Amino acid sequence: MRPEPAPRFFIRTYGCQMNVYDSGRIADLLGGQGWRAADSPEDADLVILNTCHIREKAAEKVYSELGRLALLRAPRSRRPWLAVAGCVAQAEGREIMRRAPQVDLVIGPQAYHRLPELLDGLRNGAARAGRVALDFPPESKFDRLPEEMMPRGASAYLTVQEGCDRLCTFCVVPYTRGAEFSRPPEEIIAEARRLLDGGAVELVLLGQNVNAYGACDGRGESWDLARLLAAIHELPSCRRLRYTTSHPLALSDSLIAAHRDLPKLAPFLHLPVQSGADSVLAAMNRRHTARQYRERIEKLRAARSDIALSSDFIVGFPGETDDNFADTLRLVRDIDFAHAYAFKFSARPGTPAAEMPNQVPEEKKAERLAELQGLLAEQQLAFNQKSVGGVQEILLVGRGRHEGQLKGRGPWMQSVVIDGGVDGDGDGDGDGDDNLGRIVCARIQSAGPHGLHASLETGFDAR
Ligand code: SAH
Ligand code: F3S
Repeated sequence: MRPEPAPRFFIRTYGCQMNVYDSGRIADLLGGQGWRAADSPEDADLVILNTCHIREKAAEKVYSELGRLALLRAPRSRRPWLAVAGCVAQAEGREIMRRAPQVDLVIGPQAYHRLPELLDGLRNGAARAGRVALDFPPESKFDRLPEEMMPRGASAYLTVQEGCDRLCTFCVVPYTRGAEFSRPPEEIIAEARRLLDGGAVELVLLGQNVNAYGACDGRGESWDLARLLAAIHELPSCRRLRYTTSHPLALSDSLIAAHRDLPKLAPFLHLPVQSGADSVLAAMNRRHTARQYRERIEKLRAARSDIALSSDFIVGFPGETDDNFADTLRLVRDIDFAHAYAFKFSARPGTPAAEMPNQVPEEKKAERLAELQGLLAEQQLAFNQKSVGGVQEILLVGRGRHEGQLKGRGPWMQSVVIDGGVDGDGDGDGDGDDNLGRIVCARIQSAGPHGLHASLETGFDAR
């Protein structure tokens, strides 16, 4: 008798890096249960949408994708099974089951370790009510998920902290991801070692509020993010370190010192400020002023002069006046960001800001968004142009659009295309693929709004 072919799964990931990390862990879990990864939903027996709830647009995408996927389903076998994971699952779980009857499983971000049990239930015809897992179990999912099995690539995410206690009035994260929780340092360092042994050269430590990281080791000593970064920095095959996303309030002096003392810590920080107006920051419950933000940045720049900054902004928060918006533009001009995201305020059900008076009309939001994005784009282009002529260490992460090109990322998070002559490893095959996953030195030749073009500088490996 021929053995049954292994069932196949496909995961589509939306939203933040944390979802990307979780999708990797889910893939490991399924791999350990005899599943294999499919190349597309069409080839899969199980399709998982790992969803994002942060803004209305992100959440609505899920329902349209579910509609498309339902068409794939074979009427008799009811395959592929459809599962919704991530933050939309957590926030709208039972409603999804009502609104999208084609969905077989709903599983919140803290319950991924229960997936095998839910899939068994599905095989055995469990009732719909038994196919929803939205619990926040007292023990961490990290203790119950298997170690990573699938390769994570040259730049690997590593979740060190999850959840958020800050309760910014616009944000769903505290409800979808729950209270702040930091993983023990030993567990993180062991995972970092495995990722590096598996070929990673860059590690990105993740948390919704990552700089609030705080945990005790087995000896009862306490660790903050700076200490954790320093410990990982010592691992010899770690070439570059990043962390995201930070809150300005938790940008401590020890963390600023880490930017001065740890050369592998990339000279780039994503530090969301949301608004430049104090009244808006207060209404958002950000708990700092624009001046405090500026002061933190000054300190950071004094510690590491080449640090580049990125941020998030929300325009059209309830009650935001033209003057408030002008304060945001002023802050952007003063700080000069290398990169930033700007969003229109999206009223999310259940958050305090959704109920606030003086909601800003949609046209006003659109106008402000366009103006802010215009300014941010100018700054990004100017930042990119300043790189021209310099040599950067580029981590090669993939192939470029044209033959012989490779794509990578520099220390300042710029996307860099390296043209021609990348076959520096000298094996003569001309495709340069052998260099993927390595760090090379390249001279920046030209800059555009979204990235840089470079040519290989010396040899091929900066190591
Ligand atoms: N933990 C991060 C942000 C998480 S959400 C922090 O401390 O800031 C990522 C970004 O989405 C936020 O920084 C914010 O700019 C944006 N965002 C979150 N909720 C939003 C909403 N309701 N409307 C518009 N943008 C929002
Ligand atoms: Fe959201 Fe504010 Fe936390 S933006 S993730 S509640 S710091």
